[in-house]
Amino acid sequence: MDSRLTISNQPIGVFDSGLGGISVLKELHKLMPNEEYIFYGDSANAPYGIKTAKQVYDLSKKIVEMFINHYHVKAIVIACNTATSAAASKLRQEYSIPIIGLEPAIKPAIEENPNGKILAMATPLTLAGKKFDDAVRKYQTDSEIIKVPAPKLVEFVEKGELDSKNVINYLHEILDNNLPTDAVVLGCTHFPFVKATIKKVVGDNVKFYDGGQGAAKYLQQQLFSNNLLNTSNHHAGKITFYNSNPDPSEIKLSKALYNLK
Ligand code: DGL
Repeated sequence: MDSRLTISNQPIGVFDSGLGGISVLKELHKLMPNEEYIFYGDSANAPYGIKTAKQVYDLSKKIVEMFINHYHVKAIVIACNTATSAAASKLRQEYSIPIIGLEPAIKPAIEENPNGKILAMATPLTLAGKKFDDAVRKYQTDSEIIKVPAPKLVEFVEKGELDSKNVINYLHEILDNNLPTDAVVLGCTHFPFVKATIKKVVGDNVKFYDGGQGAAKYLQQQLFSNNLLNTSNHHAGKITFYNSNPDPSEIKLSKALYNLK
């Protein structure tokens, strides 16, 4: 048997510090519905965004090892901007399977708003990273990019709290001084789940950008060029959710977020 056929049927491992990466998983499944996915949320260790880069690298490496040794995944998606910034390039040097990361969608935001004001919402670690500043430098025009660290938003999403009064108050606290704005970059995979709530604070005409779709397209290209795409169209691929927090409510919330319209 052609071993590539067997490998292409193996699952794709997707992980995040918690449940945010489910917003990316949705994009992956939309584009590649017959692939099988294993989603691992490290909610027991969330949030990553206020840890050191070394701590985030160590946690990410453990998950990558588990994906490869236990689940024999054919590719990995780091569905977390923070872990991508802190660990992706090192992990790519250490493992040979495709490792796809998530990056704040700075490029399309600048390209579409070359003279505009852009709020980049992300975790403190992502915004402090070299990767973020490099992206801004690389694509910069006359736009104004304002960093807006939003670590508490991660904690709200982890609790499944997406549009409560507390979320609205917190958003006013971190955004009001920076309004009006032309665009918002959702530079953390937890944030697409609170996009509708952010809209209530920044207004309906503001444009939003996130990296989920781009990551899905890039994964598809990588699978294709490595002969790893699952080309069987007989069945819808299975999605299995795991979480480092043993409380069964984590899996329930994971599925609820996945099914959110
Ligand atoms: N979802 C993550 C991201 O995209 C990290 C959130 C956190 O754990 O702080 O950055």
